[in-house]
Amino acid sequence: MHVFVIGGTGTISRAIVRELLSQGHTVTVYNRGTRTDKPPAGVEVIQGDRTNRELFESTLRKRTFDVAIDMISFNAADAASTIRALPNIGQLIQTSTVMTYGPPFTSLYQDINAPLNGRHDGGYGAGKVAADELLLEQAQRGGVPVTIVKPSFTFGPGQPLFRQVDWGTNWIDRLRKGKPIIEANEGDNFFQFLPAADAATAYVALCGLKAAHQRIVHVVNPTALTWHEWHGLAAQAVGVPLETVSIPWDILVAADAKRYSALTTCLGHTQVFSPQSLLDLVPTWQPRVPLGAAVAETIEWLTKNDRIDNADTDLLEDRLIAAMRQLRSSVQDA
Ligand SMILES: NC(=O)c1ccc[n+]([C@@H]2O[C@H](COP(=O)([O-])OP(=O)(O)OC[C@H]3O[C@@H](n4cnc5c(N)ncnc54)[C@H](OP(=O)(O)O)[C@@H]3O)[C@@H](O)[C@H]2O)c1
Repeated sequence: MHVFVIGGTGTISRAIVRELLSQGHTVTVYNRGTRTDKPPAGVEVIQGDRTNRELFESTLRKRTFDVAIDMISFNAADAASTIRALPNIGQLIQTSTVMTYGPPFTSLYQDINAPLNGRHDGGYGAGKVAADELLLEQAQRGGVPVTIVKPSFTFGPGQPLFRQVDWGTNWIDRLRKGKPIIEANEGDNFFQFLPAADAATAYVALCGLKAAHQRIVHVVNPTALTWHEWHGLAAQAVGVPLETVSIPWDILVAADAKRYSALTTCLGHTQVFSPQSLLDLVPTWQPRVPLGAAVAETIEWLTKNDRIDNADTDLLEDRLIAAMRQLRSSVQDA
């Protein structure tokens, strides 16, 4: 198959490209060429910015591919542009997200019929819902066949390694320096963490699969972990014992609502989604990369690319930890 990837040098899409090549497919990618890690040899690169709609669409209308994977479609306008650009494609795989379901998330192991509460978030989730709906509607009218893929948290070289309470990377530096890290409510909410290489095998299995047309498919790790377990994997990768200080969620948000906004928008909620929609189509799929190894590889990439922030310039965490310890000791004294 000749597969066209919009993106292709990102965290998930780079892994998809590698998997496609390893299975003998021909690959063309479309991106602006800003990444230092260039695509592997043998990949055709079309350089361009998809937000320049006219150029994006006219360039691609001259081309023929079997399957297109859109990694950077965030709203209905992006999705409509992709269809105008590739009106005769055999299958369009749209990258959506589990954040279309919430917060709030209504149950554990939510399946593809769960309420789309993300449509009300006014941003990321709402944009993805609108893109997905536009694509499915046009497919039902006989247009381009689509597969909507909804990955959960997917990580690997190329992007920061998140923790529970914020989007920064200095927690890795804290671990290295033997400092404790903050967890909200003991880091006890569950998440699904998927190595990008495992997401890639799912995407590639869906390529060219007729049964996947007009289907919504979760690409998630069937095994959920708590954030505390996740932090433990990072400590193991760094080679230190994990030391944490639990602070109630609402105290963190009250201390710095902006800094800890990730707790309210995404990371502070239990989010567990059923993998059944994928297993129905690809019963043999399962994650193969050990999570600890994938965490270690990501930390290695971040270190090599100087992407781990210095914890010493961020004093808020030390102050909150000291305040929490003092609170505990005064409660004990009382
Ligand atoms: N990681 C997760 O946990 C997760 C979970 C659910 C869904 N997702 C979805 O996964 C997708 C991200 O995939 P990824 O990890 O491969 O992406 P990524 O790491 O964000 O990389 C983005 C890719 O798109 C290219 N790109 C960005 N803006 C572009 C533009 N305007 N025109 C052309 N190319 C552009 C980038 O290359 P250049 O910068 O060189 O252009 C790069 O190849 C998003 O749709 C996201 O919503 C991610």
